[in-house]
Amino acid sequence: MNPLLKLSHVSFSYHEAEGETPALSDISFDLEPGKFLAVVGPSGCGKSTLLSLICGLLTPEEGTISLFGLPFQEARAHIGYMLQKDHLFEWRTVYSNVVLGLEIQKKMTPDRLQKVDAMLDTYGLSDFRNARPSQLSGGMRQRAALIRTLALEPDLLLLDEPFSALDYQTRLSVCDDIYEIIKREDKTAILVTHDLSEAISVADQILVLSRRPGRIQREVPIHFEMEKRTPMRARSAPEFQEYFNLIWKELNTNG
Ligand SMILES: Nc1ncnc2c1ncn2[C@@H]1O[C@H](COP(=O)(O)OP(=O)(O)OP(=O)(O)O)[C@@H](O)[C@H]1O
Ligand SMILES: [Mg+2]
Repeated sequence: MNPLLKLSHVSFSYHEAEGETPALSDISFDLEPGKFLAVVGPSGCGKSTLLSLICGLLTPEEGTISLFGLPFQEARAHIGYMLQKDHLFEWRTVYSNVVLGLEIQKKMTPDRLQKVDAMLDTYGLSDFRNARPSQLSGGMRQRAALIRTLALEPDLLLLDEPFSALDYQTRLSVCDDIYEIIKREDKTAILVTHDLSEAISVADQILVLSRRPGRIQREVPIHFEMEKRTPMRARSAPEFQEYFNLIWKELNTNG
């Protein structure tokens, strides 16, 4: 299968008055459509920088990034970016937050709005359309933020520590929810996380980055022998601990 996303020998440094900070070095990988990639690595190794490069907020100094083999400016419209903070606006209702991206991009067509309605319904937010974000639980806020991102019909979703503000129990159940939404909507996703268990529970492929400047230290394919995979069920599968030990060791021999 042709990759949806292809990075070839990408390097990037931040340049400031005080000097240069090399953030990423020689990153190459392919991501096939419908796959879930998780990126783990020590704090400051360049994970968020990697997502910013992929969505075009930053430009690689060396190497190339292609999405569907398209030039970058065209490809950007196919990417949805969900940050650690949900950035829901308190002065707007849940509904008007969810359609904000469509409003800004002047894409409020009847079929898109209908899809938003269907997602609000499926993901348990219909009764909260007219509520303010502060009236939602942490998990509901994350779902609203995800629906807002999906409303723009991106092909590739970039998720930067999206669950880190949640308490552990909520985090597990929101992770299950969001995984199901992404799979059901047939999206390709990249998740950056500090939580190794979370990475293993959702991913088809894990990139372990080294200390800054981040290089690919190891790429681990993840597969669970089970019929209907969910992150929660994956956690109790026999393979889970093996993957955990393997990647844990890798992170601790981090050069
Ligand atoms: N705008 C910037 N200007 C200068 N240096 C930056 C900038 N953003 C990040 N850096 C530096 O680049 C390196 C990589 O940062 P990045 O945010 O990508 O790391 P990260 O892996 O996402 O870290 P964390 O796990 O803590 O979120 C860090 O050393 C950081 O200090
Ligand atoms: Mg980061």
